[in-house]
Amino acid sequence: MKLVMLGAPGAGKGTQAKRLAEKYRIPHISTGDIFRSNIKNGTELGKKVKGFLDSGALVPDELTVDLVMDRIGQEDCRNGYILDGFPRTILQAEKLTEALQGKGGEIDWAVNVEVPDEAIVERMSGRRMCPSCGASYHVVNIPPKKEGVCDQCGAQLITRPDDEPETVRKRLEVYHQQTQPLIDYYKEKGRVLDVDGTKPMEQVFQAIVARLGE
Ligand code: AP5
Ligand code: MG
Repeated sequence: MKLVMLGAPGAGKGTQAKRLAEKYRIPHISTGDIFRSNIKNGTELGKKVKGFLDSGALVPDELTVDLVMDRIGQEDCRNGYILDGFPRTILQAEKLTEALQGKGGEIDWAVNVEVPDEAIVERMSGRRMCPSCGASYHVVNIPPKKEGVCDQCGAQLITRPDDEPETVRKRLEVYHQQTQPLIDYYKEKGRVLDVDGTKPMEQVFQAIVARLGE
């Protein structure tokens, strides 16, 4: 199964993608996570992309497309994958479509997690993440068992640098301009599965699974 997660920053794409990846036993590929891990490790790619992430702008397509194309060509992606945060521009979507057509396939579903902008800013201000294993929490909605500590690996949780309200507003603007048009791109192909992302995490998950099948 090949899935794409669509939705505004903070809609819950990563939260759902992680669960879906476990359920369907396919890799969860988050371009944001890949970029953040490169920044943390001080790689060449990390140095190139840091400024874009910090400001809430998109990383240029030429640094993003080949990275994802290489990743989905790897052995563990043979039975499918979940792309979270890619594609994010029409050009990225076209490149993905072309690459899949070359192999006689296409995306099964673009899961569109719908959350209005007002709810997003509140969510982002409460998000905490684990810098070590990448787990995501929310101080009110999905709190860790012990405040400020990762349930999974015990590391101290942090606030993501791009979750400052001003940067969140910029990311929303970028989303509406460059990424939202992808909903129509995949609607034209009849591939969009809309879900109400304002519902509790478990309900959102069950709604997606009900459509994708057990
Ligand atoms: P990326 O990491 O993809 O960030 P994003 O799209 O802005 O999305 P987020 O990760 O912030 O939100 P999410 O939808 O995953 O929500 P989450 O599950 O965490 O990208 C970061 C940056 O990298 C971009 O700005 C760009 O610079 C660059 N980049 C990445 N991909 C790129 C590409 N393809 N091209 C160019 N540049 C690219 O949930 C959010 C919070 O809400 C959490 O606290 C969570 O616990 C909570 N929550 C989740 N679900 C629920 C629920 N149902 N109810 C209540 N709370 C919930
Ligand atoms: Mg995410």
